[in-house]
Amino acid sequence: MRVLGIETSCDETGVALCDERRGLLAHALYSQVRLHADFGGVVPELASRDHVRKLLPLVREVLAEAGSPAGGVDGIAYTEGPGLVGALLVGAAFARGLAFAWDVPCVGVHHMEGHLLAPMLEPSPPTFPFLALLVSGGHTMLVDVAGIGRYRVLGQTLDDAAGEAFDKTAKLLGLPYPGGPALAKLAAQGCPGRFDFPRPMLGRPGLDFSFSGLKTAVLHAVRDHPEDPATRADIARGFEDAVVAVLAGKCRRALRELGPRPLVVAGGVGANARLRERLGGIAREAGISLHYPRPEFCTDNGAMIAYAGLLRLQDAASEPRDAVTARARWPLESLRPPGVPAPESPPAAGS
Ligand code: KG4
Ligand code: ZN
Repeated sequence: MRVLGIETSCDETGVALCDERRGLLAHALYSQVRLHADFGGVVPELASRDHVRKLLPLVREVLAEAGSPAGGVDGIAYTEGPGLVGALLVGAAFARGLAFAWDVPCVGVHHMEGHLLAPMLEPSPPTFPFLALLVSGGHTMLVDVAGIGRYRVLGQTLDDAAGEAFDKTAKLLGLPYPGGPALAKLAAQGCPGRFDFPRPMLGRPGLDFSFSGLKTAVLHAVRDHPEDPATRADIARGFEDAVVAVLAGKCRRALRELGPRPLVVAGGVGANARLRERLGGIAREAGISLHYPRPEFCTDNGAMIAYAGLLRLQDAASEPRDAVTARARWPLESLRPPGVPAPESPPAAGS
């Protein structure tokens, strides 16, 4: 089976072709980062319009690179949610239209399931059960992954996502969007320890996160100190150290609670070098394996959607629906293993 994956949940247009036996055949990604840079964040309507422009050229590119005729595709998977609903609808309508024209099945995939399973595309994939830390611009969560579609959210952010905190703090420091990589670069020049910011939620039991207070602490530091380059770098370093300490501390706690098992890190913040260094230390200490997707699959991409869709379409019992569906919100825990129907949501009042 060969599945075309389509990702349009936010500001990256991703397309990929995944083969059941040969793995990933080709992938293409178009980032809208420059389009949104002047606005300091993603503008949903601009994102939707750009997905419309880029999807067809990217599909052509992927099919050509894989040497696969359109007729060689056995199924299509698209990101159904969570994400920006207009952007999702572009991908959903495009995928359903192609599936209708090619007369192949089509399935909507959960974006976070895609991120969780992305390390499966690497040469040494993790084995189930594993612990996953999902850290992106929209999500921060720790998930107990027992198998495909068997997810238990152990903790998540109560306010900002880790990537969002990086982006907002970078803005406070006058750095360009997207702020995460720029802030990390500045922090590398900073002095550790000069700004000892709070480690939110680390002192409390449980596995939830909170980053909005940390952002406020940075705001006060920026306001109360002179604006010289060294101070900005020290503030960036203090902020990064605090976020990394919290993420790593909660991973260690989750591993203690669940017992040793592979640790998977996915989402854009997983690219952070200092976080990788800290998690590497924890993995060595606990004697567990640590898994990341390759750098281009840490952020949003079509390959993870093609792969998750392949797993779901392979199951003969799963019955892909025909509707064009998009969900701004979609709890990860409502997913079921391939072939197991999700519980029906209660009928709307009055229906
Ligand atoms: O997974 P992703 O591409 O998109 C979402 O689904 O959100 O993650 C993007 C996020 C952004 O907030 C970006 O600033 C952050 O990941 N990010 C980083 C780094 N590279 C990207 N944060 C910290 N350090 C980095 N090196
Ligand atoms: Zn994502």
